[in-house]
Amino acid sequence: MARFPKPPEGSWTQHYPDLGTEPVSYEDCANPEFYELERKAIFRRAWLNVGRVEQLPRKGSYFTKELKVVNTSIIVVRNNAGEVKAFHNICRHRGNKLVWNELPQEETSGFCKQFTCKYHAWRYGLDGNLTFVQQEEEFFDLDKSRYGLVPVHCDVWEGFIFVNFAREPEQSLREFLGPMITALEGYPFGKLTSRWYYRSEVKANWKLYMDAFQEFYHAPILHANQTPTKFAKAAAEAGFEAPHYRIDGPHRLVSTSGVRNWELDSESRKRVEEICRSGLFGPWDQPDLGPMPDGVNPAKCDPWGLDSFQLFPNFTILIWSQGWYLTYHYWPTSYNSHIFEGTLYFAPPRSPRERIAQELAAATFKEYALQDANTLEATQSMIESGVIDDFLLCDQEVLIRHLHKETAAWVDDYRRSTAEVAAR
Ligand code: FES
Ligand SMILES: [Fe+2]
Repeated sequence: MARFPKPPEGSWTQHYPDLGTEPVSYEDCANPEFYELERKAIFRRAWLNVGRVEQLPRKGSYFTKELKVVNTSIIVVRNNAGEVKAFHNICRHRGNKLVWNELPQEETSGFCKQFTCKYHAWRYGLDGNLTFVQQEEEFFDLDKSRYGLVPVHCDVWEGFIFVNFAREPEQSLREFLGPMITALEGYPFGKLTSRWYYRSEVKANWKLYMDAFQEFYHAPILHANQTPTKFAKAAAEAGFEAPHYRIDGPHRLVSTSGVRNWELDSESRKRVEEICRSGLFGPWDQPDLGPMPDGVNPAKCDPWGLDSFQLFPNFTILIWSQGWYLTYHYWPTSYNSHIFEGTLYFAPPRSPRERIAQELAAATFKEYALQDANTLEATQSMIESGVIDDFLLCDQEVLIRHLHKETAAWVDDYRRSTAEVAAR
């Protein structure tokens, strides 16, 4: 396994001196009061990714998103001008949830010319304007132009739809994303439209799952049984070292060298991988996506397997060298639970063989992710015991240190600004 030099001035962690090297507390994952602060300090202030434009293929396409962390449900819709808009999913008449199917708490998607409330049939256009009121003459001085749907700040970057619940966002979406993420502009996200989606409720704090995907150091150990014994033994002995870590504002990146399954001997890979020409790292035969933007593999690691970009607070874009990408979302539902979403995006398959190769990559990914989730529930339960509250992080866990520090910084900032307002 290739070894890479550390940055010139010592370790990765010491490269970012603000992070320190001391043990860290996980109280931020076990304390209900801290979670209440995170909801206001982070999830009501940061830009949050809720989906992609391919989910809204034409005028009138919409989907809803349940966002318990900010205590609302939203409708994301493509209007008649072709723009993407977001609204709180509540009827202005008596507060019914406007868009839902069979079960009010479940997300839904579809196509419509307007939204009609199931309760008394008030109707709203795709721009949220109130267009029809049942028995309008029975109301008192009703000015329909004042009773449109309540908008949510919404912007699109490279086909990713973001919303922001602040009254006025402190930064534009692009400013918030910053140079490391915007350097991905030009990656062919819009061409990778073969989409596979998993969703799971995990009984662990949202940050614990982010932590599991911002270091790969656990992979040879926790996931040892996912690979043939010969490979697993060699991997565990070699240990893991990432060739590159980077931090930019609230966001993080780890690049890895990856495993070239197709170059391994047949005892080190599974028979199904040989037959399907695919596995965890994706289909072995890669689509031609043309030249990559500078933001992909920015440290020019060679060999290069993947880049995992962790966008604060709860969104990950993982770009694989094999010409596909996946995203993770972690939507908190309480201090010790969240909804995990994993979505894989490939080029549209051109043959049954390509379709099967994608399916094996998707199924393999799910197996790994479930193994991580299972471990996290065990971790959460013991962190909550409170027996220990100083945990050791090694140099391969530098990004974990940053996430917890960044979270604390947003919460402190919020505490300070609300204290200032109260003191005025
Ligand atoms: S609550 Fe929507 S029309 Fe009455
Ligand atoms: Fe894992």
